[in-house]
Amino acid sequence: MDEYNAATYGDRIADVYDDWYDELFDTEGAVDLLARLAGGGRALELAIGTGRVAVPLTGAGVEVHGIDASEAMVAKLRAKPGGGDIPLTIGDFTDVGVEGKFSLVYVVFNTFFALTSQRDQVTCYRNVAEHLDDDGVFVIEAFVPDPTRFDRGQRVDAGRVEPGEVVIDASRHDPVSQRTFANHIVITEHGTRLFPVQIRYAWPSELDLMAELAGLVLKERWSGWRGQPFTSSSEAHVSVYGRP
Ligand SMILES: C[S@@+](CC[C@H](N)C(=O)[O-])C[C@H]1O[C@@H](n2cnc3c(N)ncnc32)[C@H](O)[C@@H]1O
Repeated sequence: MDEYNAATYGDRIADVYDDWYDELFDTEGAVDLLARLAGGGRALELAIGTGRVAVPLTGAGVEVHGIDASEAMVAKLRAKPGGGDIPLTIGDFTDVGVEGKFSLVYVVFNTFFALTSQRDQVTCYRNVAEHLDDDGVFVIEAFVPDPTRFDRGQRVDAGRVEPGEVVIDASRHDPVSQRTFANHIVITEHGTRLFPVQIRYAWPSELDLMAELAGLVLKERWSGWRGQPFTSSSEAHVSVYGRP
């Protein structure tokens, strides 16, 4: 069995990532809001990946830097027009090993939860706070956890069942550590591909507490990138933290 580490998700998914996800998200809304929040200053994307957000944000005039653990994901970014000019650090974003301060640090598409322990998540908030300008902000886009998705600690979903292809999601859930261990399984007549993803989820309230430990407070919370209200039935949130 391969060991799962910070680069595993990206290394396995890099060749299909943009095809699967480019259209799925409100990237345009994200870029508009992030450009406004950067306010003319520098931005840092944690887990920049293939540059789905960073490339258009750079195109909108923001100086964007990025960190990612996966060389394979970053190779896709470098191959895009304008992607080769984005300063990149290969490494784990727990430590935010980048020089200087930023007016905006952001992590989107649930990727803060890629840090698989509460300790790493708290460490990340603290490091982000040290890299923010005095009036800088930290933006997180994440889902609101829903443990009812799991039945006795597991879930199996048949995503697609075609004559030549079957797609299955298999996951196990540990409610104590708030971790899920999942595999997106693609079976065709030519073979099977596995796309593993392991996360540690946190409720918005726990994220706010982590922020407080790092000296940050919640400034705004919406359910989407266009300022949609966040309510008790929202399935996702865009949260903005800054100094009190
Ligand atoms: C779901 S993709 C998001 C990519 C990009 N931010 C986007 O929204 O399209 C997750 C990215 O996080 C990276 N990643 C996961 N864990 C990481 C870690 N601990 N440190 C750095 N990068 C990590 C993966 O390599 C991958 O590129």
